[in-house]
Amino acid sequence: MSDSNQSEFIYPSQAVIDQANVSDYEALYNYSVTDREGFWAEQADTLSWYKKWDSVLDESNAPFYKWFDGGSINIVDNAIDRHLKNANRNKMAIIWEGENGQVRNFSYNGLNREVCQFANVLKSMGVVKGDIVTIYMPQIPELVFAMLACAKIGAIHSVVYGGFSTEALASRIDDAHSRVLITADGGWRRGKQIDLKSIANDAMSRSPSVEVCICVKNNELDVEMEPSRDFWLHDLKALPIASPKCETEQTSSEDPLFILYTSGTTGSPKGMVHTHGGYAVYTSTTHRMAFDIKPEDRWWCAADPGWITGHSYIVYGPLINGATIMLYEGAPNYPYPNRWWQIVEKYGINILYTSPTAIRGLMRFGERWPQKHDLTSLRLLGSVGEPINPEAWKWYHKVIGQERCPIIDTWWQTETGGFMICPLPITPLKPGSATKPFFGNEITIVDDDGEEVGAGEEGKLIINNPWPGMARTVFKDDQRYQDLYWSKVGDKWRYLAGDSAKKDSDGYIWVIGRMDEVLKVSGYRLGTAEIESALISHPAVNEAAAIGLPHELKGNAIHTYVILKQGMVGDQKLAAELRAHVGHEMGKIATPESVEFVESLPKTRSGKIMRRVLKARALGQDEGDLSTLEE
Ligand code: WT7
Repeated sequence: MSDSNQSEFIYPSQAVIDQANVSDYEALYNYSVTDREGFWAEQADTLSWYKKWDSVLDESNAPFYKWFDGGSINIVDNAIDRHLKNANRNKMAIIWEGENGQVRNFSYNGLNREVCQFANVLKSMGVVKGDIVTIYMPQIPELVFAMLACAKIGAIHSVVYGGFSTEALASRIDDAHSRVLITADGGWRRGKQIDLKSIANDAMSRSPSVEVCICVKNNELDVEMEPSRDFWLHDLKALPIASPKCETEQTSSEDPLFILYTSGTTGSPKGMVHTHGGYAVYTSTTHRMAFDIKPEDRWWCAADPGWITGHSYIVYGPLINGATIMLYEGAPNYPYPNRWWQIVEKYGINILYTSPTAIRGLMRFGERWPQKHDLTSLRLLGSVGEPINPEAWKWYHKVIGQERCPIIDTWWQTETGGFMICPLPITPLKPGSATKPFFGNEITIVDDDGEEVGAGEEGKLIINNPWPGMARTVFKDDQRYQDLYWSKVGDKWRYLAGDSAKKDSDGYIWVIGRMDEVLKVSGYRLGTAEIESALISHPAVNEAAAIGLPHELKGNAIHTYVILKQGMVGDQKLAAELRAHVGHEMGKIATPESVEFVESLPKTRSGKIMRRVLKARALGQDEGDLSTLEE
């Protein structure tokens, strides 16, 4: 075992322990895995149901598990409606700050009015229960309203991250076959207006399913609106149909709440399907226990609502728990590297949840920026998206948390809906380890034969049980869901996460990274297949391969290898053009760091590109077993 696994524990202070929502991890964990259904039924009981469930867990069609089947619930009834009946009514639900300093606040009552109006607008556009509405927006309150409005009327939202571009948006609209697209004229980033509507227009011209486009006015861009298809939200809100009262639809536990596309090993992105019941129970429980949420807390998850982190821990979990959420639209270091610390001080943020890449990005500006600000409101810090390197962990702990705030490193995935491995505030920490399984989960590390490996040995991370927040399927593709994630050993199904990990002799889990063709770039999940197909869509390109190589800030950076069509000249100008082309098709986050022109690519005899060989060559490492390499 490497020394880092045996690193010394960092213990929480007595103050943290004294106020923890969960005071004994071992006892509750043992109960949760001995009586899993009992544990989850107790958690579900804290929510509001129109009708309670018939069964907690239905395993009859495993691995297509059902949770709280027979129950009737709407996640919005829990995230908004029930708060209107108590003291939360006038409490701040959302504090939003735009990059240019604009501030907008919404109480739970105010949030409800916005969501009801939006829901009525959707209804007037013919949206009914079960319809899939695609949402492509910057980080503005209307993004949250749009999601909640869909859920409220039983429609299914499919949010496409606002940093994605034409092809990524078009393919997601197409797969979901959305009739309605919600977007905005644009967003702000580093003082510049980002033109979303023209990207949406391009995407709609490639995806004929869209009949209605609702556009939010967010900046001063002069955008092209097609009269019979495109409507400004503010115009629709001014109509009598947009009343601020709207009945919440009584959905079933297992009714789909949203689809979120994520990159996988091969081919097109997968639409992971999450539900109203189990997801509500899982996100609120994990959020309440791992982040020790108190009624007076101001919670800031500095992710984009367009990713699963934002769905679960900006929108649903925190609102169900009645927290006040912070939403900030812009770049962390704009106009200066103290922007985030200024926000923490100004709004008295108690819990900050962000990614290792953001921490590394702010760390490079030095301690003097956070030191300008009073950060004493912070009680807990969180990390998500990729393994956090101990150096960044220690900086976050010392400089931002002033050694007072435990770091809650949460391992999970789009597919899991919520935290699977994470400490509680009372857990002794080891920098770089997400520590132990969340309640109800049994996690083992296995070898290629499925046998558990010894302490400190690397293997595949598997989850041995279903949990309420799990995705129920891949949209329209049950078979792909079963084949990609589940395997049966004896009569037990187990979930394969696609990550490699180690468990040390204290039972602490150290996630190493993806084992497949998925890249984590600045914590964003991208598929090599999507980057390659974006390259191939350029007229000069014949074939392409993408790999990830270590990068100090981003964790990984994308490097690509391109075989050109005959007669094309691979010069610097074309390399720059190809990089820009991928950015244009996929989004800026997918722009390759480098494009190298090659004559051939290493392939297996069956024609698969051997990306691991490219990677080993680039890193000057041993190329490993080359027996399947074509001559
Ligand atoms: C992949 C899932 C879950 C929200 C954001 C990412 C990696 C995520 C951690 C962590 C080590 C992590 C894994 C995982 N990952 N959190 N705390 N420590 N690795 O969701 O985009 O679906 O990506 O992110 O590799 O499989 P996602």
